[in-house]
Amino acid sequence: MNLPVICKPPGIRLAGPDELDALVRLEHASFDGDRMSRGQYRRHLASSSAQVLVAVDAKRSLLGSAVVFFREGSGVARLYSLATDPAARGNGVASALLAAVEAAARLRHCRCVRLEVRRDNAAAIALYERSGYRRTGFLESYYEDGADGWRYEKRLATNMR
Ligand SMILES: CC(C)(COP(=O)(O)OP(=O)(O)OC[C@H]1O[C@@H](n2cnc3c(N)ncnc32)[C@H](O)[C@@H]1OP(=O)(O)O)[C@@H](O)C(=O)NCCC(=O)NCCS
Repeated sequence: MNLPVICKPPGIRLAGPDELDALVRLEHASFDGDRMSRGQYRRHLASSSAQVLVAVDAKRSLLGSAVVFFREGSGVARLYSLATDPAARGNGVASALLAAVEAAARLRHCRCVRLEVRRDNAAAIALYERSGYRRTGFLESYYEDGADGWRYEKRLATNMR
């Protein structure tokens, strides 16, 4: 399936239904717990209130993915998942996905992107803070294993609702 490239490099585009297996593999390679199931991915791929974005290399192999939710009438986009294949980390893949998520949120007239991150996830916290996200809340025992989390938010510049 040919879907439009919406940001590069790397190539970032909407995921197609034929990428379900690769998305589930990446989910397992990236998260020890609180994983999205195959069924959840399938639903999000088909949903108009979610976007599944993928970063791909020149051979169309999956480098990373992001899942973002939109709610009708809400100006808040929720970044639900962001992951880079372990072999592709440190090359700007997540930064490019994050920029694409923000572009998609602007297109839907969202005023901000919100996300949650584990308190012990130093790499992700560094990424979000470097990308202009600010900490807005503490989430006690938020994760399956009882780990705490932080809520972060970034206000978007244009088309505010
Ligand atoms: C967090 C994650 C998405 C980063 O992906 P990535 O493609 O390697 O990130 P990028 O190359 O775009 O890095 C952008 C910035 O993030 C930060 N960063 C990324 N990896 C880092 C690490 N291991 N240690 C510290 N900072 C890190 C840095 O600020 C980096 O900027 P710099 O390269 O100028 O220093 C990746 O490590 C991952 O998939 N982890 C497992 C899943 C996960 O935790 N997702 C986030 C859930 S909230």
